[in-house]
Parts: sequence; C-alpha cells; structure tokens
Amino acid sequence: MAIAIERNSPPVRSGSFGPQWDMGDEEIEELIEVIRSCKLNRLSGSKVDQFEQDFAEMNGVKYAQAVTSGTAAVHTAVGVIDPNPGDEIITTAVTDMGTIIGILYQNAVPIFADIDPRSGNLDIEDVEAKITERTKAIIVVHVFGNPCPMEAYVELARKYNLFLIEDCAQAQLAEYGGRPVGTWGDFGCYSFGGKHMTTGDGGMVISNRDDLAHRLKWFADKGNPRSPVYEHYYLAPNYRMTYLQGAVGVAQLKKVTDAVRRKQWVANHLNEVIDGEKGLSLQPVLPEATHSYWVYGFHVDAETVGANAAQFADALQAEGVPANAPYMVYPVNKYPVMAQQRAYGTSDFSYASEEAAAVDYGSISLPSSDKFLETTVVMPMNPSYSDQDAADFSTAIKKVADHYRSKA
Ligand SMILES: Cc1ncc(COP(=O)(O)O)c(C=O)c1O
Repeated sequence: MAIAIERNSPPVRSGSFGPQWDMGDEEIEELIEVIRSCKLNRLSGSKVDQFEQDFAEMNGVKYAQAVTSGTAAVHTAVGVIDPNPGDEIITTAVTDMGTIIGILYQNAVPIFADIDPRSGNLDIEDVEAKITERTKAIIVVHVFGNPCPMEAYVELARKYNLFLIEDCAQAQLAEYGGRPVGTWGDFGCYSFGGKHMTTGDGGMVISNRDDLAHRLKWFADKGNPRSPVYEHYYLAPNYRMTYLQGAVGVAQLKKVTDAVRRKQWVANHLNEVIDGEKGLSLQPVLPEATHSYWVYGFHVDAETVGANAAQFADALQAEGVPANAPYMVYPVNKYPVMAQQRAYGTSDFSYASEEAAAVDYGSISLPSSDKFLETTVVMPMNPSYSDQDAADFSTAIKKVADHYRSKA
C-alpha cells in the first residue's frame, strides 16, 4: 500500500513523464521503406544486415548477429559454445530469467554465485570458488548498466580455460577500461525489448571470435548455412530477426548514444542528491567504468532512514515519481521453474549432471543477493527527462528522506 507523505501537502509531481524511447519519423520512414519493398523476412531484404553492421561498427567488433530477444541472444551465445549436458555455467541470480533460460535449453546446469551487495554485480571471488572441472563458462551481467571488472574476468576465464559471456541487456554503451562492455568476453548479448533502445522485441550477439563466427550466424537460423548448401548442421532454433525490427533498429541505433547521455546526466544529478542524504547511498561504480543507467538504483539504510527500500519506493510513488523496490521479488533461483527443478517432463534434467547431485536451487544461500534486493530502490531512466523532471526526482527523494528521518 502506498504511504502518503505529509498527507496535507500536495505531491511533488502531478503530471506524467515522457516516453521511454525517442521514436518518430526516422523509424516510420525506415518501416515504410521495408513495407513498400514487400520484403519483411530476414532472408529477403537487407535491413537486418545493415543493423548488424552498424551495431558491430559502433562497438568496434567483427561480428554482430541479430536475434529475436535478449533471451535469444544469451541462448545463442550458450548454443555457440556447445556445452555437453551437465556442464556448468556460473552466473548471477539477480538478473532476468532470460540470462538462465538458454543455459537450461542447452542442457547445461546453472550455478549461482553471490553478488556484491552494493554494486549488484557478481562477486568474482565467489565465482572462482564455484568453478569445478565441469564449469564451461561464466555469464556476467552488468546490473542496471553498471560494468563488472572485465579485465579480472578475462584473466579468470583464461586461468580456467572457460568461455566468458557478457549479458549486456541492461548495459548498452556502458564502458569498462574505455571499451564498450560486451567486447571483453567471447560474446556480448543485448536486448531490444524494454532497454536503452527498442525494436519491439529483439536482441544482438557480438563477438570477435573468428573460429566461432559461422556457428554464431547459423545458431540463430536452425543450424542452416543456407549458402552454398541448404542443410542443417546441428540442433538450433529459429531466432531470425524480421526486417521490420531491423528497420526500427537502424533508426534507433542512431539515437541510442544521445539517449544514454541524457540518462547519465540525470543519474549524475541524482548521485549528488543521494550522496548528500544521510542513510541513502549510491550503487558504486568502478573507477575504470562508465555506467549507462538503464535504470537508476540507490540504497536505503532502513535503520538510519526509518523506512526500508520498499517503503521508500512507495512513498516516492505517492509523490508522483516512478520508483520500485524490490527490483525482483526474489533471486532467480527461487522462481518455481528453478526451485521445482522441472524443465523436461518428470526428469530433473538439466538441473543435475551425471557426476554431480541435482542442485537444490530453492535452498541455495545467496545472502548478498537478498541484501541487494532488500536495500535497493530502482527508478526508471528515460531520455525524455527534462531538467524539471530531474529536479522533481531530487525534490521527491529529499522530501521522503526528510519525512522518514524526522520520525526515526
Ligand atoms: C540482464 C537481462 N538479461 C536478459 C534479458 C532478457 O531480454 P528479453 O526480455 O529481450 O528476452 C533481460 C530482460 O529484462 C535482462 O534484463
């Protein structure tokens, strides 16, 4: 239930906020061109090819493979590395189920490492502690757009001869060490559903791996090389992006840099506010990193503030600004699909390997993952936010913090 702050005072904000994406004539013109061409399917026109080339160029990589979603992007990356049934893939439980689905579909075993309770990103020491002789890959997730320490992950993956996949669904245009995230690992995976840019639904996998480039291309197309022969080399889904999506992608990609810059400006403004409020604190960003702020997250110390993150987010909503907490009700391992361990009929496949006992996902202890979800308030970031919108956000945060602290 929303908690009204100072019931007699009007909310900080009564009007609505602008759209999540800058969408208009450019997308319409691209779409008209595709529809007039009568070539809507990936195999008949050229817009997805152009989108892939532009995306590869923007990130400075050799290969970009468009797919139908962020979930499909991670599945494609996992399919390309071709795990044996029972191979383990280490990742975080504070993520969208889309990070995990591809692991299960390829009959590999998701292994959850804990995270840093403040950045929300994987705890690299716990990742290393969970590596076994069955580990095939690590999937890092740059939570909210906040980059993981990629140099250290590249070193770790090399040390144990593992594949490194970056789930950049939330982190398009974020950087680590002056390079875009997604370019450090073997594969970088993107989502164009509700993220920095949109194609309705859609996704992309980027890579510099010459040796896996064909498999990457074909995995998204039923394992079929098409040219010079039409045949199917291995089991793979149809994740082909349509030209309608590709056309929107071409136009959206031209706008995404400005969109992220605007979000970063708003986030920097909020950083100053949060930094000055007793009991509130920032999601820390590594000095070598640039956060791209798909959303803005900050922490609430319930004891100092006199309210927890969920109460704080409710109060912000009552003040007319969007906020929510927790980001997820619980970590991914507690979702029924994981906790009940039923993906394929009545077997516990692929939650167990022949060598290892089935992982009891429901009872895994990930205390820092729980803590992050308990303390974090999330505010959506839009490129349409005006200076006044940013000011309303900060006024609402200060008002709610003052209100609760005065009662604590
Ligand atoms: C970190 C992460 N990975 C994967 C996905 C899946 O993307 P999609 O919804 O496009 O399948 C999401 C979507 O929320 C995400 O946030």
